Amino acid sequence: MLNTDYAPARHSGWYLATTTAELQAPITPLNIAGRALMAVATGDGGYRLYDSVCPHRGASLAHGGTVGRAGVICPFHGRAIALGSCSDPDRYSVAEVPSLLVGTVLFVCVGGGVVGASGGSGDGANGVRGDGFKVDGVRVDDRGFEATMLELASTHDLFPCPPMTIDVAPELVVENAFDLDHFMKVHHISRVTGMDWGLTENGPAHCHAEFTVRTPQWEGGGPKIIQNRFYARAFSPTVVVTELGEHGVGQTVITGATRTPQGCVVRVVNALRRAPEGPASEVVVRSLTDFAAKALHDDMLIWEHLDTTMTPQMDRRDAPVVVFREFCDSFQPTTVDRVLV
Ligand code: FES
Ligand SMILES: [Fe+2]
Repeated sequence: MLNTDYAPARHSGWYLATTTAELQAPITPLNIAGRALMAVATGDGGYRLYDSVCPHRGASLAHGGTVGRAGVICPFHGRAIALGSCSDPDRYSVAEVPSLLVGTVLFVCVGGGVVGASGGSGDGANGVRGDGFKVDGVRVDDRGFEATMLELASTHDLFPCPPMTIDVAPELVVENAFDLDHFMKVHHISRVTGMDWGLTENGPAHCHAEFTVRTPQWEGGGPKIIQNRFYARAFSPTVVVTELGEHGVGQTVITGATRTPQGCVVRVVNALRRAPEGPASEVVVRSLTDFAAKALHDDMLIWEHLDTTMTPQMDRRDAPVVVFREFCDSFQPTTVDRVLV
């Protein structure tokens, strides 16, 4: 039997944190990897993410804090808390956490180890901001995600679906992209062939297959049976980017699952190639949103009744799932396990 060890519950690396529609100006509390964060509006449509626990005596800056010129004024004793690295040893400050805003979707990269123990400073290149988590200039646990997202954003528009709360561990949601047999049984794909999978050092885990499918109804010309390329890349235990169809031409789906006390919140984002004649029509976007919701509902019956305490007996067809679990194990667990919202 194959190795079936599973991933740490909270991991370093990228998370799909939220979308701008869910953020309030000027401060929104966020809980990522058990770490209390806050998104602070920059006033130009952007956001930056910081730890939200006041270093003085632990109040949440995200609940009642106000943004001033000197940082955030704590709601408990009124100290001005500097945002990000601060050279004045007499001032309190909170660490900035690297984040990436792609369209309306906000990603955050959490470091493993001790909270706030991050090196480097200031704005990073290529749109990622924060205080680094860099070793020799390489962002730890980026796994190529930042470059992939920036390339995607240069040619595609992102359409987030409404978030769904599901009573399942977030890693299981992402693992599904590597569970090729379930696409036939749960999602009624006629055939899955040409399977290939693997890991790259400091890169994503990937899984490739050919799906035999019916063309979607909105494409016109009557239903046809076609071979559709399926290519999934997990960039962290809880973020997977899936291409359906030829690279750069077909549809790309970003799925992020973030742990909550109840299970996880799943956010699916459809990325559609920007056409010269303008953005995708509402009908297409709605069809893709409905399709994503239906796919998650199909999975939910399995997830919500899955015995995650039993010892799985995987066979060779589960090899991509095992690769995904190995990939998850290569991330660092985060040390914070309090759930603060
Ligand atoms: S807890 Fe923030 S100023 Fe005291
Ligand atoms: Fe699924």
